[in-house]
Amino acid sequence: MENTDLVQQAKKEIRKMIIARIRELSKEKKKIKQSEFLSGQIAEQMLKNFHEIIDRKQYEEIVVGLFTELREKQREQKESTDGKKKIIETENLHKIYEVGTEKVHALRGVSFTIEENEYVSIMGPSGSGKSTLMNIIGCLDTASDGDYIFTGENVSRMNDNQLAEIRNSEIGFVFQTFNLLPRTTALHNVELPLIYSGAPTSQRREMAMEALKKVGLEDRVMHKPNEISGGERQRVAIARALVNNPSLILADEPTGNLDSKTGDEILDVIDSVHQSGNTIIMVTHEEYVAAKSGRIIRLHDGLIASDELTENGKNKNYGWK
Ligand SMILES: Nc1ncnc2c1ncn2[C@@H]1O[C@H](COP(=O)(O)OP(=O)(O)O)[C@@H](O)[C@H]1O
Ligand SMILES: [Mg+2]
Repeated sequence: MENTDLVQQAKKEIRKMIIARIRELSKEKKKIKQSEFLSGQIAEQMLKNFHEIIDRKQYEEIVVGLFTELREKQREQKESTDGKKKIIETENLHKIYEVGTEKVHALRGVSFTIEENEYVSIMGPSGSGKSTLMNIIGCLDTASDGDYIFTGENVSRMNDNQLAEIRNSEIGFVFQTFNLLPRTTALHNVELPLIYSGAPTSQRREMAMEALKKVGLEDRVMHKPNEISGGERQRVAIARALVNNPSLILADEPTGNLDSKTGDEILDVIDSVHQSGNTIIMVTHEEYVAAKSGRIIRLHDGLIASDELTENGKNKNYGWK
């Protein structure tokens, strides 16, 4: 009489053994072939302790089933990473500040990848390395060690001029304190990044107007910063960050200087910027602000303490794609 429990148990065991063997092979970077599991030494090994319970045909079914699953998984993984550009890849970033004879190890091996159209929050206690990391990501500073690949280009060893060029053309900054020119209209503030790019005046004006429209400020374009509210100032700053279609928007506590209602409005603007296809990295101290993003990277003592999707990030319909 066949003991089905025993057969099921044996099948499970064999499955586990096959998976373990596949893992070993992939770690050794060896080719994993289905045929080798169906015949020869590996098949013998796998069946050795089970030959009285599992016959050859049942064994083959397990192998074929597993490999089908494996291929399916690989295909899914490939689909999910294909077509999405990596905007940021950091590999083992270190930053050491030398102050006199003292050395401060601000980043101690930070690695992560951010894809096109992600919306990521960076959190962590004061002194954990957030600003240091943002400065490196924003090409304002370079790491002491490790690699930083920005849109496929290794920027880790670039000189100041090369970094400035990437910064001006590829990265939009939004600061807690807005950083607008005080005696200059909203329109001109937004136009500024385009002046470096050498675009003609009429085109600059058109692009700046379009960016101001995106943040809902088309009727405040001739106002100077002291003639508009804090929330409107931050909208100008967001328009300025957007104006030359950067690959990345970096926001450092964008709602930190605003009351909570105005802060929420700015978060909605950032949301719509994300929905229209932009990639955003934001530093924040507030959990509810971070929860609006799709993923939270938490730093602690210069290391990544956690890197997790938020509820938004788990939702497949999140973002524009
Ligand atoms: N320019 C600097 N020179 C020396 N030490 C610095 C400098 N900037 C930051 N640090 C030190 O590096 C560590 C990380 O700082 P920072 O990146 O500003 O953290 P956070 O933004 O999370 O508060 C801290 O110990 C800080 O004192
Ligand atoms: Mg800081």
